[in-house]
Amino acid sequence: MPEFVSPDTDPMDELRRWLTEATAEGVSNPAAMVLATVSPDGSPSARALMAGTRDQDSITFFTHYASPKGRDLAANPDAEGVFLWTPLERQVRVRGTITKTSVEVSDAYWASRPKNTQLAIHVGEQSSMVSDHDALVDTKAEIEARIGDDDVPRPDTYGGYRLTPRSYEFWQGRPSDRLHLRAIYTRNSEGSWDFGVMTP
Ligand SMILES: Cc1cc2nc3c(=O)[nH]c(=O)nc-3n(C[C@H](O)[C@H](O)[C@H](O)COP(=O)(O)O)c2cc1C
Repeated sequence: MPEFVSPDTDPMDELRRWLTEATAEGVSNPAAMVLATVSPDGSPSARALMAGTRDQDSITFFTHYASPKGRDLAANPDAEGVFLWTPLERQVRVRGTITKTSVEVSDAYWASRPKNTQLAIHVGEQSSMVSDHDALVDTKAEIEARIGDDDVPRPDTYGGYRLTPRSYEFWQGRPSDRLHLRAIYTRNSEGSWDFGVMTP
């Protein structure tokens, strides 16, 4: 039975530990988090994003602000992220509020990306319909020819978001007795974390 979470530990530290263990286990894309958002008319949608856990109080990801998820978040900043590591029978759910990162954080992330990735981000607004995939290849080649050896600028519509959790749920499967463990951390009014366990 793998070690479970501790009531006395900050849940971000537990999340980092589980990420490290998923990486060690060889899970592909262990930092992929499925983010669910809700549109102004109440329609849910979910998609995978690469999540960063460097800050103690938030999870970061980078995307197009003018995308469907960006429009959802502008109208309703409440969202839930889910990490799933099937080989470890583990899931972490993180619920909270999403705000944009600072321009400095977006610029630093942009500067860390390969030029090929930056060029691909320039092909157009995310999730817009195009005539076919070849049109995107042509558009990227045109942008690449125009930019040449210059740095690729970060579009104002591309940058970071921070998910500031108000609750975490750590789920650990227990195949032996099917009493799967569910540990819940909820932020209280003093800003520290209450800990509890839920039925499976
Ligand atoms: C493993 C994985 C990681 C992804 N990471 C990102 C990411 O970091 N940022 C991003 O904008 N899209 C990422 N995507 C694509 C999104 O899932 C999604 O297709 C895109 O953001 C458009 O979402 P939207 O139309 O709901 O706004 C990733 C997809 C996969 C499968």
